[in-house]
Amino acid sequence: MKIAILGAGYVGLVSGACFAEFGVQVALVDKDASKIAALREGRIPIYEPGLDKLVADNVRDGRLTFPDTLEDAMEGVEAVFLAVGTPSRRGDGHADLTYVFTAAEQVARAATRPLTLVTKSTVPVGTGRRLIELVRPINPDITVASNPEFLREGAAIGDFMRPDRVVLGTEDNEHGQRALETLRRLYRPLYLIETPIVATSLETAEIIKYAANSFLAMKISFINEVADLCEAAGADVHDVARGIGLDGRIGRKFLHPGPGYGGSCFPKDTLAFARTAVDLGTPLRLVETTIAVNDARKEDMARRVIAAMGGDVRGKRIAVLGLAFKPETDDIRDAPSLVVLPALAAAGASVVAYDPQSMGFARQAYPASTEFAPSAMAALADADAAVLLTEWNEFRALPPDRLKAVMRGDVFCDFRNVYDRKSMIEAGFKYTSIGRP
Ligand SMILES: NC(=O)c1ccc[n+]([C@@H]2O[C@H](COP(=O)([O-])OP(=O)(O)OC[C@H]3O[C@@H](n4cnc5c(N)ncnc54)[C@H](O)[C@@H]3O)[C@@H](O)[C@H]2O)c1
Repeated sequence: MKIAILGAGYVGLVSGACFAEFGVQVALVDKDASKIAALREGRIPIYEPGLDKLVADNVRDGRLTFPDTLEDAMEGVEAVFLAVGTPSRRGDGHADLTYVFTAAEQVARAATRPLTLVTKSTVPVGTGRRLIELVRPINPDITVASNPEFLREGAAIGDFMRPDRVVLGTEDNEHGQRALETLRRLYRPLYLIETPIVATSLETAEIIKYAANSFLAMKISFINEVADLCEAAGADVHDVARGIGLDGRIGRKFLHPGPGYGGSCFPKDTLAFARTAVDLGTPLRLVETTIAVNDARKEDMARRVIAAMGGDVRGKRIAVLGLAFKPETDDIRDAPSLVVLPALAAAGASVVAYDPQSMGFARQAYPASTEFAPSAMAALADADAAVLLTEWNEFRALPPDRLKAVMRGDVFCDFRNVYDRKSMIEAGFKYTSIGRP
C-alpha cells in the first residue's frame, strides 16, 4: 500500500515513520524546503525520543521517502493525509484552516486516480463537508475522511503504535465505504493488536478530537483549582488526586497540578471548540471557563514568584529551569514559560533560563534581556531565586544541598512539585510548591 502525507511536522513525520514501520510505502512532502532538505540529510527537525532511528531505518529500507514534488509523491497512492497546521486564527480564536484548504486543493489538482483525502490535522466540525465541496468539483474521484490524531509529544511513537483507539470518520455513502475499507487496511497492524476502531461519520470524528482535548484540559484546570484550595486549607493535592483518581470513573491520569497547560494543541483546540460551539448556538461553558482558568493561572505563576521574593524582584537574578511545555519535547508553543518569563522581566528581574532541548527555539521567543545558560547548575549559579517550570528528569536528580550551594538566594518555586518539600526546607530553601501544605 502506498500513501502520501502533506506536512512533515510533529504529526506528519511521526505518522509517516510509523506507517512506514507498518510496511506501508510513505511519501512525505512539506512546503518548507529546508525541512525536507534536513530530512534527506538524515537530520530530524524536532526532538522526539526514538524518532531519529525510526526515520533512519525506514528511509534505509526504502519505505519512507521525501519526494521533490507533490505530483511525484502522489504516484500510485491510495490515500493522502493532511498533517498541516491548524493554528488559532488571529483575532477570533477559530481554527485557521488556510493550510488545510490550500493543501486539499493541491491534492485535488494533482490526483490522477481515485483516492481518499484524510484529515489528520485537528479540524472543527463541518470541515470534512467543506472539503468535499472544495475538492469534488475539481476532482470527482476524491473521497474525504477524518482520522484525527491523538499522539502526545514526547511519547509520540508509542502512542501511534499502541493507541487507545483509532477514529475513522467517513461519508455515509459509497465513497465512504471505500474510504473506510482503505483506512482499515492501513491500520490493520493495530487491528491485530486489538486496538478499538471507532468508525463513525465525518462530523462525529471531528468532534471526538476536540472533545477529548477539551476534557483533558478541563481535568488539568480542575486539579489546578483544587490545588489552590488545598493550599488555602492546608491539604495535600497529591493525596486528593490519588484519592479521587483511584475511582475508575475518574482515573489517575491528568491530575497533576502545575503552572497551567500549554503546548501546540490544548490552548488552540479548547479555544476553537468553544468558538465553534458558540457559532452553532450551543456554548460550551465548561470549556470557556477552563480556558479562562488556565490563562489566569499562567499569569498567577509570575505573581507567586514575586510574592515569594517579598513583593519586589527588581535587580534580582531569577533562574528558570525548563521552558518546553512539558518534558521530552523541544516544543515551547503556548508554554507557561512564554507568560512567566516576560512577566518577571517586566517586573525588573534579570532572568537566566535553561532547558535541555528547546534553547534553539527559545532564543527568539523570550524577552531580549533573557540570558540562556548551558546547564541547570550554570543557570542557578548566583541566582537569587529559582523557578522550575518543566519537570525534566535531569532536574529531579539535582540534590537540594547542591542547588542551595550554588545559588546566592534561598527562594525556590517548584511549580511541578518535583522535589521533596522536607528536603528542600532542610537544605535551607524558602520553598514554594503547588497545592501542598
Ligand atoms: N503536535 C501534536 O502533538 C499534535 C497531536 C495531535 C494532533 N495535532 C494536529 O495535527 C496538525 C499538525 O500539527 P503539527 O504539530 O504536526 O504541526 P507542525 O506545525 O509541526 O507541522 C505542520 C507542517 O505542515 C507543513 N505544511 C503546511 N502547508 C503545507 C502544504 N500545503 N503542503 C505541504 N506541507 C505543508 C508546514 O510547513 C509544517 O512543516 C494540527 O492540526 C494539530 O492540531 C498535533
